[in-house]
Amino acid sequence: MKGIILAGGAGSRLYPASLPISKILLPVYDKPMIYYPITTLLLAGIRDILIITNASDIQNFEKVLGDGSQIGVKFSYMIQDVPRGIADSFLIAQDFINNEPCALILGDNIFHGFGFSSMLKRVGQKTTGATVFGYAVNDPHRFGVVEFDNNNRAISIEEKPQNPRSNYAVTGLYFYDKNVVEYAKTLKPSQRGELEITDLNNIYLKNQKLDVEILGRGFAWLDTGTFESLLQAANFIKSMEINTGMKIACIEEVAWRMGYIKEEQLLDLAKKYNNDYGQYIKKIVQTSANKRLNSNTVV
Ligand code: DAU
Repeated sequence: MKGIILAGGAGSRLYPASLPISKILLPVYDKPMIYYPITTLLLAGIRDILIITNASDIQNFEKVLGDGSQIGVKFSYMIQDVPRGIADSFLIAQDFINNEPCALILGDNIFHGFGFSSMLKRVGQKTTGATVFGYAVNDPHRFGVVEFDNNNRAISIEEKPQNPRSNYAVTGLYFYDKNVVEYAKTLKPSQRGELEITDLNNIYLKNQKLDVEILGRGFAWLDTGTFESLLQAANFIKSMEINTGMKIACIEEVAWRMGYIKEEQLLDLAKKYNNDYGQYIKKIVQTSANKRLNSNTVV
């Protein structure tokens, strides 16, 4: 399965903070925002990832992430010159997708929760239909909203409805089968002039090929669209990391745990960071070595 991170758009709601650099590269506590969606794709078993961004930002993304080989994955980059809508990703990425199933995540979407890895692994193995994720929110009119029947089957999705039929938002993570490019080509711009991801999801829904996975109340789906929500997201990550002693979305750790790089490569990467981030990577390698030692000790 291929993966796409959509990291374009003007980011003007965060001006002047995002004037010199893409919003998606701004820090969320101790790492650039894009580390979080990258982690989500890696946990789904996706190693071939296209980052779609503005021409003016592409060099910065390359500077931060390179070609991905350092963490055993492949990053490539393409430009969206005008924000034509989220579903435009599939027209831009047609050659990259190459008739394979594909996941798309919005660069500013942060997910965290127990059981998410196994859910992603399961969904990442599907090769037919589409899967989206529903999350209960206070302000559904700001999102795509999914309505369910009595058997919890999705029956409608509306983009930013004035009168939402449920409080379940469709999050910015989508999995599609190989038909996605053909369906995207049939879309027409909406009233706001965008190729809507909700219209694409509705094609799958009409064909009875759309699964909606619910992310329950133990999950965090964090917004980073305003100064306030960006700070709240950073505070959330900070308190989780401090309370548990584990980092969220340390892409080097995730790549190592997924088996994409070996321990020596991970330790090499730690040398780049003469700070808490580097110390953390060394600590997890040491902890894993101690565990191995203990399990080999005959009592
Ligand atoms: O966050 C989930 C929501 O994302 C969904 O519930 C909605 O159905 C979906 O339409 C989308 O709603 P938004 O109005 O929040 O999307 P927004 O236009 O803010 O774009 C989301 C991100 O994608 C943002 O970081 C900018 C980027 N983007 C957006 C468009 C339209 C692009 O890179 N290119 C684009 O053409």
